Amino acid sequence: MPALKIRPVSSAVGAEVLGVDVKNLTDGEFDAVRDAYRTHGVLFFREQALSPEQHIAFAERFGDINVNRFFTPVDGHPRIAEVRKEKDQKINIGGGWHTDHSYDQVPAMGSMLLAREVPESGGDTLFAGMGAAYDALSDGLKETLEPLRGVHSSRHVFGNKGKATEAMEGRIGNAEAATQDAVHPLVARHPDTGRKLLYVNPGFTIGIDGWSPLEAKALLDFLYQHAQRPEFSYRFQWQPGSIAFWDNRATWHYALNDYHGQFRLMHRITLEGQPLH
Ligand code: SIN
Repeated sequence: MPALKIRPVSSAVGAEVLGVDVKNLTDGEFDAVRDAYRTHGVLFFREQALSPEQHIAFAERFGDINVNRFFTPVDGHPRIAEVRKEKDQKINIGGGWHTDHSYDQVPAMGSMLLAREVPESGGDTLFAGMGAAYDALSDGLKETLEPLRGVHSSRHVFGNKGKATEAMEGRIGNAEAATQDAVHPLVARHPDTGRKLLYVNPGFTIGIDGWSPLEAKALLDFLYQHAQRPEFSYRFQWQPGSIAFWDNRATWHYALNDYHGQFRLMHRITLEGQPLH
């Protein structure tokens, strides 16, 4: 196998990791992969034929697994969440810009998604870099954002009357556990690199601490439009055995829902993070 190579896929977010078998990473390769993860926000691997046990073992090299409360787990593997869309289903999981677990007091570090079965065409995932999105704001707006705190929740998505609960029966459950609300800085420091990140997302941020809903909506809408600009994003095309491993603090993602009538199955492992400052 050729030597490990990290190839950035855009200036704002993402890098491909070439020349590795993630089942057998040496310590030196692991360090290079971990550094690239911190730098690029999301890493892409190809042709990694992993069993569920090998998927878990790779994920655990980066930290402890966080078991998602709402996703249906893979049969026999409670620590792996299933991201499934059947041929006759219209709604997909993750079909809007979001970052996983921002509603938790201690948001998850990252998610490692492994493609099991993918549609012949469609079903790509978009990623956006929140470091680049923050850097591109004016100094004036950066100063305004600095002391603000975003309010995040899982209730409107995974709760009893949540968007996902009603639309995705069988694939999402445990609505009574959707009681989390959390407040995090709007500009978070990356726990490992210190880089400033825009830490709000359209999926789970519901307000700004101390602001009226209308005031918060106006600012959040602007930030969402800004962060969605194409120059901060990258579109990843899956093949069976592809892995995307993203940093939830530094990126958003969006699973495209453009493959009705086709089946798509992914396995997701989420990793514990640290409090954000
Ligand atoms: C997710 O939001 O975790 C799912 C992403 C995808 O299926 O591409």
